Amino acid sequence: MIDLKSVHLGYSDTPILKDINLHIEKGEFVSIIGLSGAGKSTLLMSIIGNIRVLQGNYQVFDYDLCAMNKKALRELRSRIGFIFQSYNLVNRLSVLHNVMSGMLKNIPVGRSLIKLYSNEEHDKAYEYMQVVGIEQLAMKRCDELSGGQRQRVAIARALAQEPDILLADEPVAALDPKSAARVMDVLLKVNETYGVTVIANLHHLDFARDYCNRILGVSSQTISFNGSPDQLFDHDMEAIYKNDPVGMASINIATVDNVKTRENNNMKKAA
Ligand SMILES: Nc1ncnc2c1ncn2[C@@H]1O[C@H](COP(=O)(O)OP(=O)(O)OP(=O)(O)O)[C@@H](O)[C@H]1O
Ligand SMILES: [Mg+2]
Repeated sequence: MIDLKSVHLGYSDTPILKDINLHIEKGEFVSIIGLSGAGKSTLLMSIIGNIRVLQGNYQVFDYDLCAMNKKALRELRSRIGFIFQSYNLVNRLSVLHNVMSGMLKNIPVGRSLIKLYSNEEHDKAYEYMQVVGIEQLAMKRCDELSGGQRQRVAIARALAQEPDILLADEPVAALDPKSAARVMDVLLKVNETYGVTVIANLHHLDFARDYCNRILGVSSQTISFNGSPDQLFDHDMEAIYKNDPVGMASINIATVDNVKTRENNNMKKAA
């Protein structure tokens, strides 16, 4: 589904990330971790063709990202949902209308302008609001919601797009631990219920370990770790966070907490 071979990525001729070799299959739940400025957002945005491919082969679905015209780029992006940390919702509109705006690629412009949606489209929107647990808020304006609620609206809107891939750039960075876990639960549910491939940049290593089947560590301008949470050892984390002793300290604390959460999650899954 996503395939990179010896890829260099950058904003100018100077690469930000080099020699990226990566293959992501349909249905995976992948997290990208690394220091601030390491290139996590650059890697994520490259999947929607927003970053220059300076070298190598880069394929998403059947598209060659080294040779995209405007039409191909539009088609590619219509199959990929992107959740921004800043939510990007229309605040003065209701939750329902924000979610429905995700369907716009499937709805003729005339109808979308006068907000005429079919019953089937309403039902779909309610289904997505239920998945993320905001159906009771359908008629509320988005500027009346908390951060965690807004993030869930953003996920429901991305779902309404019926994407094959959902990309999330630090979806929980601005949330308290409980709301953050709720949003991660929602992403996992989306991944499991609809088989959507989810790729998320995360600053919380504990969430990466608990929720994802694969972790990518970005450091030294490349993907320095690519494996399952069980394969991520201290020396890998040291390599990923090597210039950040303060960060490592907080990660170690989080790791201890994690073991408990992971055990709980495993028990939940087994039940
Ligand atoms: N629009 C841009 N033009 C030029 N350089 C950029 C641009 N955006 C980011 N960069 C550079 O690319 C590098 C990687 O940035 P990126 O935003 O991908 O990091 P990140 O890992 O997502 O960091 P954070 O955790 O702080 O979000 C940084 O050195 C940054 O300065
Ligand atoms: Mg970033």
